[in-house]
Amino acid sequence: MMRRKLVAGNWKMNGSLAGLAELDGIGAALDPRIDVAIAVPATLIAPAAARAAFPIGAEDVHSADSGAHTGCISAAMAKEAGAAFSIVGHSERRHGQCESDADVKAKAEALRRHGMNAILCVGETLDEREAGRAVAVVTAQVRASLPEGAAGDWLAIAYEPIWAIGTGRTATVEDVEAMHGAIRATLVELLGAEPGAAVRLLYGGSVTADNAAALLHARDVDGALVGGASLTAAKFAPIIAAGA
Ligand code: G3P
Repeated sequence: MMRRKLVAGNWKMNGSLAGLAELDGIGAALDPRIDVAIAVPATLIAPAAARAAFPIGAEDVHSADSGAHTGCISAAMAKEAGAAFSIVGHSERRHGQCESDADVKAKAEALRRHGMNAILCVGETLDEREAGRAVAVVTAQVRASLPEGAAGDWLAIAYEPIWAIGTGRTATVEDVEAMHGAIRATLVELLGAEPGAAVRLLYGGSVTADNAAALLHARDVDGALVGGASLTAAKFAPIIAAGA
């Protein structure tokens, strides 16, 4: 099964209207062989979507379509602003905002209801890895947060070991291949051979121009979810090039 690579950026709580100029440089670095997308803070979705030559997404959405949820935005709102997708289940939300697998699943299903794509994140803590539980923890997250109707045309899964996020410490290619293999086997078991093989698996955690080529061409790695190095065209463009 041929899966197109996806190099996605996650601006987290970074960026500004002035900083959207970076999107022009990133647009100039697009490669027809690679899908590129960037998730930006809610306040920047509309201007970013109006400016970018590639899909813009939200950082997160609520699972409900509307209602009494102060401070949240719905998938419909993100879509109206111009978002084509959203990240869900990032560890900074699972841990920082106490989100459960059930919450993450419901958020992905909300995106699906509104015809949007989802990048669903999973990943273990350092303690879990050191205790030899990484594969068990991550595959359990996949099982419990996989949305109804999961399919490769709208869902990608990002494996982001928490100890590798923003730390400059990257998982080894061997560790990434082993984990992606375990996630792939879980998807095949849950969805069947073909649909399970169609979902793209991204790696996230201190991806930079220096390590992108090795990671992006590793077995069962279909792309990257990039934090810090997605904030500027100078850092992100070489990662796109590394995927080609
Ligand atoms: O979602 C991307 C992310 O958590 C990785 O961040 O800054 O380590 O690339 P960073």
